[in-house]
Amino acid sequence: MVERFKPLRFSRAGIRGLKAAATVAINDRVHEMWAAGQNVYHLAFGESRFPVHPRIAEALGASAHKRSYTHPLGIPELRRAIAEYYQRRFEMDVTPEQVVVGPGSKSLIYSCLMALGEEVILPQPSWVSYAPQAHILGKPVTFVPTRPEMNYELELDVLEARIHESRHNWGNPEVFVVNSPKNPTGTVMRPETVEALAGFAREHELMVLSDEIYALTVFNSIPHVSISRFYPEGTVVFGGLSKSLPLGGWRFGTAILPPGNGGPALAHAISNIASNIWTCVTAPVQYAALVAYSGDPDIEEYIEVCRRMHTIRTRFLYQTMVRLGIPCAEPAGAFYVFPCFEKWREPLAARGVRNDQDLALYLLESYEIATLPGSAFHSAQDLCLRISSSYIDAATDERAQALLAAFQEDPDPDRFIVDHHPRLQKVAERFGEFIADLEQDVPYADHRPELAIV
Ligand SMILES: Cc1ncc(COP(=O)(O)O)c(C=O)c1O
Repeated sequence: MVERFKPLRFSRAGIRGLKAAATVAINDRVHEMWAAGQNVYHLAFGESRFPVHPRIAEALGASAHKRSYTHPLGIPELRRAIAEYYQRRFEMDVTPEQVVVGPGSKSLIYSCLMALGEEVILPQPSWVSYAPQAHILGKPVTFVPTRPEMNYELELDVLEARIHESRHNWGNPEVFVVNSPKNPTGTVMRPETVEALAGFAREHELMVLSDEIYALTVFNSIPHVSISRFYPEGTVVFGGLSKSLPLGGWRFGTAILPPGNGGPALAHAISNIASNIWTCVTAPVQYAALVAYSGDPDIEEYIEVCRRMHTIRTRFLYQTMVRLGIPCAEPAGAFYVFPCFEKWREPLAARGVRNDQDLALYLLESYEIATLPGSAFHSAQDLCLRISSSYIDAATDERAQALLAAFQEDPDPDRFIVDHHPRLQKVAERFGEFIADLEQDVPYADHRPELAIV
């Protein structure tokens, strides 16, 4: 008998069929293990843990008395500051009217998915929340698979085929979500791919939602280029303070709307949504954001220091995968790597590991390593995991502060890892043990070719 919760009756809108994120199972288990006093190397977390810059913290404290509701799209001086910031940092021609702020970029992405078009086109893999947001809104999703050997870049022929297929089935794919640097793979789209995608989107009249929340965390091997540079009239660019600055919990995000007639119409729609749901971003946070976007050289330098620390920590994880022979696309931004374990399918199956969720739980139970299964990101390949460098060795405020101080004193990447990342090094060791264990009983005949022939 299905339990009823009279007088509560859950509505059709969005809730039915909305699955708990696979991330929840791992996180619940991590918390259980911690509560039992067990060790866990937490590589499932995706938030920057470095300290809050003192000038931004000070601005938040000083604004505590700002208690009135503000305009739903943000206070005018902040929208102006963000427009100027985008002009300077990203050489984008942005006016204050094009800037909208919201409680995290997540809510702004959701508002745009609500306001625009019908069917949503999503790359595979892509960030955990896009598909559930489309589900809540009752919008169908067309998934476009990408391949590790292509660095998870979208391929136009595959994109075209998926759109064609959807239209053939009476679908109406109109809203195209792109994300670079990308969660979960850490890969960055090459400028020529960005330009080609822009041409494709224009030709097919797609509205592009370009999630660029990791734009200031690139490793500088591939430059970050916004698709809005080539397709401004059809692109909304999302950003915020959650990744390049460690302020995820402050809930502050931005959207840069298209120039021309479309922008004001979309601003009007978002304003209507915001004013009826969250009203405005917490006023003191908006005043603190004014400082974050002021271009203060000290804050810009801090963003750069954080970027370099993320780069070193993430590249160490990537190099560990390479050293152990684990197939993994090379990250060029954010704090993620996305290794795949397909080549060990047999020895994994012998341990009862048949899919990526089993694999994530197995690594947690047997090697104390918490990761996220690729299926949480709708990965087109099985047995892949998302691994994040953001939490490890920065679990407490004191540790995070100590890491920052150590890096500022000596930015040498090797010494930064060797002298200040005991747990990250332990993670490399534990992955080594895991692979050695799998290799020991890879197909028996592989080790005894002569016997196999006999
Ligand atoms: C790709 C991507 N987009 C958006 C977000 C949401 O960021 P926020 O709502 O904190 O701005 C995240 C956070 O993990 C993310 O990884």
